[in-house]
Amino acid sequence: MKLSNKTIAALVQAEIKHVGDYFHLSAPQMPRKDYEQFAKVVAALRGEWQRSKQAHVFMYNPTNAIAEILASGEVPPVNPHDFFPTPIAEIESMIDWAELPTGEWAEPGIRILEPSAGDGRIAKMVRDHLPNAQIDCYEIDPLNQSILTELGFTIVGENFLAAGSPAHPYNYILMNPPFNNREYQKHIQKAWEWLDRQAILISIVPSSFRRDKAFRNFVFEFGQAVESEPFETTQIKCSTIKIEKFDNTHLWQPDNCGFDSHYHSSVQIALDGDFEFWDRLQNLDDATQIAEWIYTCVERLIVKKEYNLLFDDRVRGSVLRYVLHEKDPSIEVAIADKQGQLTLIL
Ligand SMILES: C[S@@+](CC[C@H](N)C(=O)[O-])C[C@H]1O[C@@H](n2cnc3c(N)ncnc32)[C@H](O)[C@@H]1O
Repeated sequence: MKLSNKTIAALVQAEIKHVGDYFHLSAPQMPRKDYEQFAKVVAALRGEWQRSKQAHVFMYNPTNAIAEILASGEVPPVNPHDFFPTPIAEIESMIDWAELPTGEWAEPGIRILEPSAGDGRIAKMVRDHLPNAQIDCYEIDPLNQSILTELGFTIVGENFLAAGSPAHPYNYILMNPPFNNREYQKHIQKAWEWLDRQAILISIVPSSFRRDKAFRNFVFEFGQAVESEPFETTQIKCSTIKIEKFDNTHLWQPDNCGFDSHYHSSVQIALDGDFEFWDRLQNLDDATQIAEWIYTCVERLIVKKEYNLLFDDRVRGSVLRYVLHEKDPSIEVAIADKQGQLTLIL
């Protein structure tokens, strides 16, 4: 769509002032019908109207971006790449949870990646926290790229999903990837491959990630999830995940409290507190029905009640054996795992 003469005039006459960390744009008063297109352009440039300031507030100096739009004569597309900025309060929680080193622990050479950096708000707060760290950014949107460059960040590439492996892995990755078509899973799984041997990844995800069994099992094998701060920019309910690269083999070993493993114990303890589960179990005698009932209840705990539980075939078999033994200790149960299917040998 072409820029109208009124929008062109408003953009030319707009005053831009540097106020603290922000830039305030004040435009001449316009009738509502003319203002609509102007507001669209400002929104596409990430300007936010703040009544208390009586200005459109920008995190960067929009002068160059406005000049480019005037030169093109076109209204820029609004949000072509799923840019939904993370709330500042959420970024503070992400940084706390990442346990970024401070003071004497903040050795030089720490490598941090923001693989879908947007307007650089996560990268900026990480840099405030760790000024000597190397922070690499990927960002696909040209406007965000100009903002990142202006903020002094290194853009190592545009499309993170198309990027080749880095020469050196990262110690920390903090990210809020695009959600469209479950793209966030590809971004997170790729970022996971780029972590060092002992390293931490924090990401915003849609809370519905729990419905994707393979992805959520990956999350709960290596980490946890919590509910995120509310996002003003999207209606989607979000969670924050923390996944860690470390040697987790001991979590699969039987522990000395008699549980098969850390993962099995979490599911068993969750089921122990589920009265509905034990109520109905009393009326079930068939092992296949019991296996299905366990599955239904654990799925409910994970998806509806948002428990952080790894519940893959390895864990399922063991939990089934435990439940059958609780129900009738005289039953000796062996379970074989045949091509991902649990087979009961009673
Ligand atoms: C949900 S926004 C979050 C931006 C920023 N990380 C933040 O937390 O405010 C997702 C960002 O990913 C960018 N993006 C989308 N696809 C990408 C890709 N394949 N590679 C790099 N960046 C991408 C979008 O342009 C957008 O800025």
